Amino acid sequence: MFRAIVLIILLAAAAWAQRGVQRNTNPLGSSPEVATAGRALYNQNCTNCHGLDATAGDRAPALAAQRSYNRTSDQDLFDALTKGIPGTGMPALGLSTDDSWRIVAYIRSLRASAADFPPKGDVAQGEAIYNGKGECSTCHTIGGRGGLIGPDLTNLGARSSVRRIREALTVAKPHPPAGYRPVTVHLKDGSMVRGVLKNENNFSLQILGTDDQLHLLSSNEIERMVRDDASLMPSDYDTRLAAEELTNLLAYLSRLVR
Ligand code: HEC
Ligand code: HEC
Repeated sequence: MFRAIVLIILLAAAAWAQRGVQRNTNPLGSSPEVATAGRALYNQNCTNCHGLDATAGDRAPALAAQRSYNRTSDQDLFDALTKGIPGTGMPALGLSTDDSWRIVAYIRSLRASAADFPPKGDVAQGEAIYNGKGECSTCHTIGGRGGLIGPDLTNLGARSSVRRIREALTVAKPHPPAGYRPVTVHLKDGSMVRGVLKNENNFSLQILGTDDQLHLLSSNEIERMVRDDASLMPSDYDTRLAAEELTNLLAYLSRLVR
């Protein structure tokens, strides 16, 4: 009796494992060639609603943005584009089975984290740029070491895509994200605190200073506060660094996983 139960559990576990494997198996594989073919098909068939290169379109959500997706497995994506999503504006697309799988490979390649497909490059030189010419470690922490004013990059490769990391280094954001808005506060005693605004209410401000210290300032000591629209994060690393240096830096950053 006991052995029968164990056997049943083992069989169920095997069936479950099998199911897991099947759910993420694209019969065409996930090679760059398949994904590239999928990209062309995507840009022919899907951009009317979803945006170009799977960004947000006018009529449908982004398929490759940094957000949580409802559909993540190969099979779920395949089903959505072959059957449509009932009750929504997502139609069945009527593409061949192989073309549908090609598009699935493309969407997955866009969503992949940097660490899933780390780009080639000289990782050791990339690390040297990070700590040296790039001055990244003055503002960012990796593994508990470095500056505090920028986000912790310890797990960057796992939580971001190569595309997003490259953008962070080369494209200025229209507004710095919350928690990273640069401010300069002039105090009544004539001194000045510069840093990023972490918290604010009617009575006080919390500022992480460029000195890496947390400053708690109450409103009655403040003369005025000046907000700066430009992030402290430099966005000109494509000109500051040689092309090869940027490539090596990206190779290093993509491999940062906790
Ligand atoms: C006529 C407009 C339209 C076209 C064309 C279209 N979609 Fe969509 N799609 C939508 C809408 C609207 C949704 C959101 C459905 C919902 O509310 O869940 C969606 C949702 C999806 C989802 C689910 C997103 C998620 O996070 O779960 C996938 C995957 C998808 N579309 C893939 C595609 C692909 C691939 C193509 C081209 C082969 C395509 N769609 C063409 C309108 C469209
Ligand atoms: C003067 C300080 C400073 C320097 C130098 C700096 N950063 Fe940043 N970085 C920031 C701040 C502040 C943010 C958050 C605000 C923003 O995203 O604009 C940020 C954001 C980022 C982000 C995106 C945030 C995330 O968590 O995904 C990445 C990636 C990044 N920096 C990497 C680097 C690398 C690599 C270097 C060196 C080549 C570098 N930074 C140099 C301050 C800096």
